[in-house]
Amino acid sequence: MIHAVVLAAGLGTRMCSPLAKVLHPLLGRPMVGWVLSALRELDAEVTVVVGHQAEAVEAALSAPGIHFTRQEQPRGTGDAIRSALPTLPSQGPVLVLAGDTPLLTAATLRRLLNGHQGPVTVATFEVEDPTGYGRIVRSEAGIRIVEQADCGPTEAAIREVNSGAYVFEAAFLRESLADLQPHPPKNEYYITDLVTTGARALSGFSAQEFMGINDRAALAEARLLLRRRVNRGWALKGVDFPDLDSVEVEVDVHLEPDARLGFGSLLQGKSRIAGTVGPHCVVRDTVVEKAATLLAGTVAEGAVLHSGAQAGPMAHLRPGTVLEAKVKVGNFVEVKNTQLHRGAKASHLTYLGDAEVGEDANIGAGTITCNYDGFHKHRTEIGPGAFIGSNSALVAPVRIGRDAIVGAGSVVTEEVPDGSIAVARPPLRISKGSAERLRKRLKGGA
Ligand code: UD1
Ligand code: CA
Repeated sequence: MIHAVVLAAGLGTRMCSPLAKVLHPLLGRPMVGWVLSALRELDAEVTVVVGHQAEAVEAALSAPGIHFTRQEQPRGTGDAIRSALPTLPSQGPVLVLAGDTPLLTAATLRRLLNGHQGPVTVATFEVEDPTGYGRIVRSEAGIRIVEQADCGPTEAAIREVNSGAYVFEAAFLRESLADLQPHPPKNEYYITDLVTTGARALSGFSAQEFMGINDRAALAEARLLLRRRVNRGWALKGVDFPDLDSVEVEVDVHLEPDARLGFGSLLQGKSRIAGTVGPHCVVRDTVVEKAATLLAGTVAEGAVLHSGAQAGPMAHLRPGTVLEAKVKVGNFVEVKNTQLHRGAKASHLTYLGDAEVGEDANIGAGTITCNYDGFHKHRTEIGPGAFIGSNSALVAPVRIGRDAIVGAGSVVTEEVPDGSIAVARPPLRISKGSAERLRKRLKGGA
């Protein structure tokens, strides 16, 4: 059993955010959650050091095998690790990671653990621009780490840097923590001061994997890299992507082989996709079965599209939407808590809320179910084979019978029995040949 400590108590000032840095989401999982998921693959017993917004961080991460300790004040990484001591064994290796390196993988952590020797081993990598990282200073005497703020010109030029991931012998950690001295001007304790005589610097790690997220530019970069990694995994299982960058698939989404995803779509929550999601769709907690399609620009949440159903372009499917086989929901149609049975169609500009639409019913453009009276929601039932003319208002609660016809522009306030016709509109007045007279009058200003 390997023990690990994740430092997640810092303020994260550079994020300029009211949300704790380590909770910033990446593909539906908080930043620090990615570190924990790599550790889960190692079956590690994990202590997370929390401080800034401790309750929120604990609530977001709480899971079996995860313990929390509190750092009362953010007095540096060296102080943070101190608060984890009571949860650590008296001997053996302890993996220490930062909560702001979400790209690291279990394979990399294994490499670090396998390369551990002596009292402490630090993972290092080389970068073009080392600004912000602690520099690895190698000399006859061994290695040490010099933080950005303390670098002279020679040290500043060193391109080998501290990843922020270490393996410590628990006994060494206990003994040496007492000797740490604070660094002015902020009087912070640095964990990097524990990398001293006898320490090992294990080099050659990937700079990308250890990218520390300190600001939103790095956060956006990390998001792109994670998208690629996740999308690549799905693409290798047979999911069709237009590219590996523009589609974002959150971690709890499930995709089936041969699902097709369009440019710029966001797949969120617990969505399950076996069919096609067109470009620029936002899909949350939605099921798209095989041979079902969401066309471009559609927003769907809590909806189910059965095989052969189609929605969009630019449809809005809200929670409780069920589209059965051969249902067509077209552009600028909003559907909420409504089931459309097999073959029903609402092709344009419609609101269907708290309704049931029977098989093969046809809902004309501009139809509105008036489901809300300002106090309560009411249901609309539209029978199989019914035809609702364009621009009709169905004032719920109301039932339109099987095979009934509602004339265009009608306001329907009572039940239309099966097979009946309902038309409710003011009579049309025709004034033959009057158009020219009216024009003349208007032109003359009279
Ligand atoms: C740290 C290292 C630096 C390394 C870099 C790698 C130190 C002093 N410096 O710098 O050598 O190159 O990581 O990314 O360690 N934290 C606490 N309590 C605190 C302060 C920080 O828990 O009082 C946590 C933060 O939440 C964060 C992690 O420790 O997850 C690292 O802190 P951060 O302030 O990001 O350190 P860096 O300046 O990046
Ligand atoms: Ca950092």
